[in-house]
Amino acid sequence: MLNGRTVRTAVLVSGGGTNLQAILDARGKVIRHAEIVLVVSGNPEAYALERAKRAGIPALAISAKLLGGREAFEQELQRILELHKIELIVLAGFLTILSPDFIGRWDHRILNIHPALIPSFCGKDYYGLRVHRAALERGVKLTGATVHYVNEIPDGGEIILQKAVEVLPGDTPETLQRRVMEQAEWILLPQAVEMVARQLKVED
Ligand code: GRF
Repeated sequence: MLNGRTVRTAVLVSGGGTNLQAILDARGKVIRHAEIVLVVSGNPEAYALERAKRAGIPALAISAKLLGGREAFEQELQRILELHKIELIVLAGFLTILSPDFIGRWDHRILNIHPALIPSFCGKDYYGLRVHRAALERGVKLTGATVHYVNEIPDGGEIILQKAVEVLPGDTPETLQRRVMEQAEWILLPQAVEMVARQLKVED
């Protein structure tokens, strides 16, 4: 599947989709060895689905609630990923914690973007604005974003890329989140997708 062609990539989302948008905007520029062929949202209301539609990317939502739990959700997710011959998964603001079972089937094939410099402010209860609130409460002068492989430990996988961002006086969790997105997340994620996709093509 990989030799000589681009890597078939799915982006999993739950929210606004600004990281998805950064990936879509990087196609043919930073991203040349991955083809975004599918967007899956864990939340049917996610604006990220709108962004996918506008870009002409097949997009769908699957809800663990409606399917009756995480096991049924992961079975459906696996079925859809196989149907689309997906080779690489990118978690871009995807809030469902995937089981070790599911992750084990995608070893070094799932990337995640975390809005802090792992190992700071990461792990089970650190997501969204909570991450930035914790950074401000601790009084760090630098924070940033990390792209890492996903393993069975939340935010515990091998680090791929990181980028530091200054915390400014008067920052609120919202202003800090925005700066980390603009100056780190939206730059790192496309770079990491390209790096990993190129590696996958070479390995094949
Ligand atoms: C971002 O802050 C990202 O770091 C985190 O969840 C948020 C998603 O934002 N994983 P968006 O949906 O990509 O706009």
